[in-house]
Amino acid sequence: MPRPRRLFVTTALPYANGSFHIGHIMEYIQADIWVRFQRMQGHEVHFVCADDAHGAPIMLKAEAEGVTPEQLIGRIAAERPRYLDGFHIRFDNWHSTHSDENTELSQDIYRKLKAAGLIYTKPVEQFYDPVKGMFLADRYLKGECPQCGAKDQYGDACEVCSSVYAPTDLKHPYSTLSGAEPVLKTSEHYFFRLSDAKCKQFLREWLGEPGRLQSQVVNKAREWLEGDADKSLGDWDISRDAPYFGIRIPDTPDKYFYVWLDAPVGYLASLKNYCAKKNLDFEALLAAPDTEQIHFIGKDIIYFHTLFWPATLKFAGYKVPDHVYVHGFITVSGEKMSKSRGTGISPLRYLELGMNPEWLRYYLAAKLNANVEDVDFNPDDFLARVNSDLVGKYVNIASRAAGFVAKRFGGRLCAASVPENALLEKFQAAAGAIAASYATREFGKALRDIMALADDANSFVDLNRPWDLAKDSQASPRLHQVCSDAINLFRLLTIYLKPVLPQLALQVEGFLAVEPLDWRDAGTLLPAGHRIQEYRHLLTRVEEKQLDALFEPPAAQAVPQATAPQRHAQHQQHQSKERTMSEPAATPPAVQPAADKPATISIDDFARLELRVARIANAEQVEGADKLVKLTLDLGGEQRTVFAGIKSAYAPDSLKGRLTVMVANLAPRKMRFGVSEGMVLAASGDGPGIFLIAPDSGAEAGMRVK
Ligand code: 2FM
Ligand code: ZN
Repeated sequence: MPRPRRLFVTTALPYANGSFHIGHIMEYIQADIWVRFQRMQGHEVHFVCADDAHGAPIMLKAEAEGVTPEQLIGRIAAERPRYLDGFHIRFDNWHSTHSDENTELSQDIYRKLKAAGLIYTKPVEQFYDPVKGMFLADRYLKGECPQCGAKDQYGDACEVCSSVYAPTDLKHPYSTLSGAEPVLKTSEHYFFRLSDAKCKQFLREWLGEPGRLQSQVVNKAREWLEGDADKSLGDWDISRDAPYFGIRIPDTPDKYFYVWLDAPVGYLASLKNYCAKKNLDFEALLAAPDTEQIHFIGKDIIYFHTLFWPATLKFAGYKVPDHVYVHGFITVSGEKMSKSRGTGISPLRYLELGMNPEWLRYYLAAKLNANVEDVDFNPDDFLARVNSDLVGKYVNIASRAAGFVAKRFGGRLCAASVPENALLEKFQAAAGAIAASYATREFGKALRDIMALADDANSFVDLNRPWDLAKDSQASPRLHQVCSDAINLFRLLTIYLKPVLPQLALQVEGFLAVEPLDWRDAGTLLPAGHRIQEYRHLLTRVEEKQLDALFEPPAAQAVPQATAPQRHAQHQQHQSKERTMSEPAATPPAVQPAADKPATISIDDFARLELRVARIANAEQVEGADKLVKLTLDLGGEQRTVFAGIKSAYAPDSLKGRLTVMVANLAPRKMRFGVSEGMVLAASGDGPGIFLIAPDSGAEAGMRVK
């Protein structure tokens, strides 16, 4: 066993103004697997996180909801355990940057930076919203592009002509918060002198330490640090003016730390809070030279974690991070996740559907490596991989052997046949290579190696045909041997899979009647006479309909109906209710619908619908979908793909060339079979039948329906 290490591990602190999305869950699963692996190695790990509670967006969101920021972050904090427990993500502590510990630590760090001569102030001129009475960050500022005149462009770049400019170049600027015309106003800002030669020299050395960071990350950080001549790392503006939800800068009446100053300090605050609960000496633990400080983060926040954060710690006299491990984003079927376009996977919906969290842990682990690469969630791949690897290969070994051991040998094993059965030694010898893969976050490689072993174990069972041996009483000793060996192989695989599948491993430990397995146990085999428990089904298969449900459109889009597909509508409303318990509620309609009639809407509401005549250019079957037809719709020049649930009523060929009406401004939605870019209109009643809407003759593709 390697020398015991002491590890202080964190994941990025999520903003406390929203629920977790699948990207958060992926990061936590990655870190949780790594931490569980380290613990199985006998290392001491302190694994903490917290809510990142400060900043203008949280303040403004609370205001919009009519609650205090404290109430908002309290509500979000309350929903965290449901996700974390649900996916078996086991932090030792979850805290908040809005805490006494964080205030004390942030202010202490600031005072030390100031004493080191690295803080100075200077006046900064910035846009100010006279109605809201606050300075405007660039994202709250819009206006006309100074180059092409496009309206409603942000303060830094034009989305139409791509030109880049300063906020003060915008023509007719307005505040997105109040609509008011902003005025330029000056205030004193506090700066961290990062351009100081000693800061740069330190960062050069810190970045250059072999093995500290992934090479892609070092390269990126070096570009920012050195830049081109005048674009190298500048000083960092660490203050914001009131009103701001944050930590007060000492000795100022109305200045706050910019949220990115106190956010990473939240790592230390959470550790401190945890130490107090556990009676540990926080200062000693943090400062000990052999405590390794490790941050798991996403690629979007490399800048803060490889430049600002190490420099902040260093010049405040704290120990600097040992490693920052960066992962890529998660995409869904190759597309970047976006909440508004609905292509993400809701982690809560995943759990509510009763989908096994360990399927997702396994799938993500199989796709993760030590590079800064995006990870794609592909539903078909998910189904195939989980079912084939976990159910078809791994669990299958136990289910094939356990019955014979129970029925024929009273649940008792015979001694494993080492060295005759070379597989046993091969499995044991693999422990080192698999450990090395986990340690270096090459989880995909670890799982590939483990599944190659599972293939070997299944081949061993196939070759020895216990079901045939069972028919021959003379072959009983051989049957006992084959099944006992298979159970031993299964136990070794369980050890190797345990960081990824902790809950399943717990069940297996019960079945095998063994103490919690750790990595050392790979050096032993179950002894002769060891009695295992009755085998109970360990893992179900992923079903296609579960994935269909996972990708269903948000229930909020369903129009409540009392007649026609009443059951369907009730089902959707029910889902909607469940979801709003912990996901941000959709804006309530102004007029509540009566029980049997949709709500009245205004003409403006109706005008928001972009209904257009569409010609069905092509219609085809969708393999694997019971209800869907894939339509290619021509809108008079523009083409859209729409998946329509009309297969029961129309043969695809009969649809080609017809005109129909589509909702052309429906947000695109990711379905299992592709992205649907709208919806066609159809009527249905109490009885069977779906009737596509068609315009009168003379209408042409692309015409607006009003
Ligand atoms: O990007 C984000 O979601 C930030 N809330 C991450 C902060 S990480 C750390 F610095 F606190
Ligand atoms: Zn422009």
